[in-house]
Amino acid sequence: MARVALVTGGSRGIGAAISQALKAQGCTVAATYAGNDEAAAKFTAETGIKTYKWNAADYEASKAGIAQVEADLGPIEIVVANAGITRDAPFHKMTPEQWKEVIDTNLTGVFNTIHPIWPGMRERKFGRVVVISSINGQKGQFGQVNYAATKAGDLGIVKSLAQEGARFNITANAVCPGYIATEMVMAVPEKVRESIIAGIPAGRLGEPEEIARCVAFLVADEAGFISGSTISANGAQYFA
Ligand code: CAA
Repeated sequence: MARVALVTGGSRGIGAAISQALKAQGCTVAATYAGNDEAAAKFTAETGIKTYKWNAADYEASKAGIAQVEADLGPIEIVVANAGITRDAPFHKMTPEQWKEVIDTNLTGVFNTIHPIWPGMRERKFGRVVVISSINGQKGQFGQVNYAATKAGDLGIVKSLAQEGARFNITANAVCPGYIATEMVMAVPEKVRESIIAGIPAGRLGEPEEIARCVAFLVADEAGFISGSTISANGAQYFA
């Protein structure tokens, strides 16, 4: 039986590549998105992957959305918490709103995504949890106190979940992408982006498919002994 996989933020950027890689691996995939109906419809038309709209920052919406996915497709056995946003500003200019929006989506959103799925994984004694963290959660980043805090927090989440899930054959791992060629990175001012690329020994941005490759590896049935780990894919920019 095809395993059911949920990918939050799964219709664009890194998430879209993950959704497609899991489908190619034989999973039945549900991809969530928060707002961009047009991109989601296009993604479904092109890939045949079902999309669901809810805000990962909202616990009740996540719970209801997950119940809908499970009613449509069956129990979720693989969850990839990928949805994330940036609100970059140097700390002295960062507003409480910029702090809260990023915490709500990138950190609380991970809780909201995994928490409703977790009891079913425990009951069925199988689960694969992957959280998409970031190089900037490992090294910090000028202008990203909020984002780096959430991405470092992701690593704490998976290391704790790995311990709680182990008895139930549930693994939890993190992937830390470096700078990947997505809209999020393209939104960084061009001069700043150029200096970032200059600091990547590989001499280029990564591709979303290179992150999806890591996720596909971690969620395979054969990856049951790999838990609490972090895979970095950053073109040798940083060694955690
Ligand atoms: N290191 C050191 N100093 C820096 C700096 C850096 N990286 N970036 C800016 N500064 C300095 C500037 O030179 C400037 O100095 P002076 O006042 O002496 O001239 C000072 O900081 C203030 O700079 P700005 O006035 O330009 O500040 P700003 O309010 O316009 O904000 C910023 C700048 C928003 C932080 C901008 O630099 C930026 O967007 N940086 C990129 C942050 C980043 O890497 N984001 C990653 C997005 S992609 C992502 O998050 C995906 C992932 O997981 C990797």
